[in-house]
Amino acid sequence: MKRWLVSGGVGFIGSHLCRALLSRGDTVRIVDDFSNAPYPTALKRTNEASLRRDFPSVEVVEGCVTDRALAARLVEGTDGILHLAGLAGVRPSFADPARYSAVNVEGTANLLEAAQRAGHEMFLFASSSSVYGNATPLPALEDAPAIVPESPYAASKRSAELVASAMLRKTPKMRCAALRFFTVYGPRQRPEMAITLFLRTILEGKPITMFGDGSMRRDFTHVADIVRGILAAADLSPPGFRAYNLGSGAPVTLNELVTAMSKATGREVEIVHAPVPLGDVDATFADISRAKTELGWSPRIKLAEGLESVVEWIKDEG
Ligand SMILES: NC(=O)c1ccc[n+]([C@@H]2O[C@H](COP(=O)([O-])OP(=O)(O)OC[C@H]3O[C@@H](n4cnc5c(N)ncnc54)[C@H](O)[C@@H]3O)[C@@H](O)[C@H]2O)c1
Repeated sequence: MKRWLVSGGVGFIGSHLCRALLSRGDTVRIVDDFSNAPYPTALKRTNEASLRRDFPSVEVVEGCVTDRALAARLVEGTDGILHLAGLAGVRPSFADPARYSAVNVEGTANLLEAAQRAGHEMFLFASSSSVYGNATPLPALEDAPAIVPESPYAASKRSAELVASAMLRKTPKMRCAALRFFTVYGPRQRPEMAITLFLRTILEGKPITMFGDGSMRRDFTHVADIVRGILAAADLSPPGFRAYNLGSGAPVTLNELVTAMSKATGREVEIVHAPVPLGDVDATFADISRAKTELGWSPRIKLAEGLESVVEWIKDEG
């Protein structure tokens, strides 16, 4: 397949994915609503401008993934949908649960339905490690029940998976992959996310605010590895609904992250502690054997190298 509809293509992960697709000569149509949640629209405009500059063939449509008539038009002339649009973020989802549900659940159902009507062979969408909550034994396996979400965001991603899996009964030959991303970082990471926020703060010589005592563990995954995982799943996921963990499989505590960030920046890090916000899980830890076996995918970028890529980007962008 060569002609893609990429939703959320001017966002953090989407902009990296579009660059990879366009660089190999594929055709890309982006749909994105350029909303200012959970971070300012200006950053999405910057991503759009740099995509258009480097790849003049890219088509960008401004619109909402819940718009049914638009979805029907968007799939015309495409072979597959890579659906990354969504409202991201655990903490802000408590402030607007209805909108999170509408965008993440209805948006996914709407694009999947359009893909089914268009006779697409493949549909892929962004799910999240948050579906596992605190109740799943770690490392988390894709077949774990995942029935105790800790936030409206997590619930919306799990709901989207369940709706997609049920919809596949109508088109059992279609390949539908739900990719559970584990804390993705890298250049252009969303500004409110820990690594970019911490590194910027450290480089400004200011103290970082750490939630909890630093024992919380996260399975940080570099965006370049995530993009390789998306491309592999687009090629190789089997018929029917299938979930895949895309994580590093090597979680670190926040204290370990701070040590690594201190090395990457060459700065001492001053920490101010704050209570753990509602919805944050204690740990994320991916079992990645399914993606290894079925997609031939393994993460390649170690945390130290990945952090350097973010430091370089922050220094270049100012
Ligand atoms: N970054 C992570 O660590 C992470 C982890 C797990 C899952 N995810 C999921 O991966 C996807 C991409 O995440 P990201 O970090 O790049 O976030 P992002 O916010 O940078 O990208 C999402 C994009 O979707 C767009 N969008 C939002 N609502 C829309 C709507 N109604 N219609 C059309 N477009 C809309 C946004 O404008 C944005 O450009 C999201 O679905 C997110 O939930 C991300």
